[in-house]
Amino acid sequence: MSKLTVPMISARKVAKGADPLVMVTAYDAPGARVASEAGADLILVGDSLAMVVLGYDDTLQVTIDDMAHHVGAVARAKPESLIVGDMPWMSFHVSPEETVRNAAKLIRAGAQSVKLEGGRKRLPMIERLVAAEIPVMGHIGLTPQSVNTMGGFKVQARQAEAARKLVQAAKSLAHAGCFAIVLEGVPVKVTRMVTEAVDVPTIGIGAGPHCDGQVLVYHDILGIEDRFVPRFVRRYADVRGVSVDAMRAFAADVRSGAFPNDDEAYHLTDEQADALGLYGSGG
Ligand code: KIV
Repeated sequence: MSKLTVPMISARKVAKGADPLVMVTAYDAPGARVASEAGADLILVGDSLAMVVLGYDDTLQVTIDDMAHHVGAVARAKPESLIVGDMPWMSFHVSPEETVRNAAKLIRAGAQSVKLEGGRKRLPMIERLVAAEIPVMGHIGLTPQSVNTMGGFKVQARQAEAARKLVQAAKSLAHAGCFAIVLEGVPVKVTRMVTEAVDVPTIGIGAGPHCDGQVLVYHDILGIEDRFVPRFVRRYADVRGVSVDAMRAFAADVRSGAFPNDDEAYHLTDEQADALGLYGSGG
């Protein structure tokens, strides 16, 4: 596989015969290498960083500089997947100028595109980014940065009016130049309406099967935490369990004296030992 590009991704509509897109989050170089080697089309350096790596309760706590720091780590792994840098809360809310300056930090850190949350009210920012040659991925439905206005992490667009607004928002984002749109926390039938309404790929999380791709958070796929698991997550490994077992085995070996053994230590030559007067005392 060679490096995926924005035009390659934006052409991937399942209805036109394309394979579904695979996007996963990653926040550091080892994670990016795992995602790339597994064949992920896109790596999202998500602001979920705040919750799954930095231990906060929501995503509102990370800054553009935090995000650039982690985009840089992912980019240094040189993944073949397209890197999407997530614009955190307050990095694209003040003005289009500040939005472009902040997005440029992620691009200069190594992302090939940025993602931002929100519908029609974000159009001026999206248009300015596109004019600055910065590819933009939209994100609508359950937008975690709106946790306080939504009153929690809740499935969106259940009522007819809200569903119609969501479809309109998706059309506006596509028209403004978004190359793909994340749909989060949306009922299956509404997802289908959105996917059919736009020419760019939709990438779902908690949005059911009628998307042009799916995204999950790295730590959720691998089972790195055993906290609350939302219904849309499928765990493919129990890395937490394996890790705790491995750490316990290490601790037991240290306490029993079984670690380190002779092969796991460095030794003096006999000559070097002699020079120190350590005759016959071992290396
Ligand atoms: O930050 C993130 O991980 C995201 C995905 C859940 C889409 O925005």
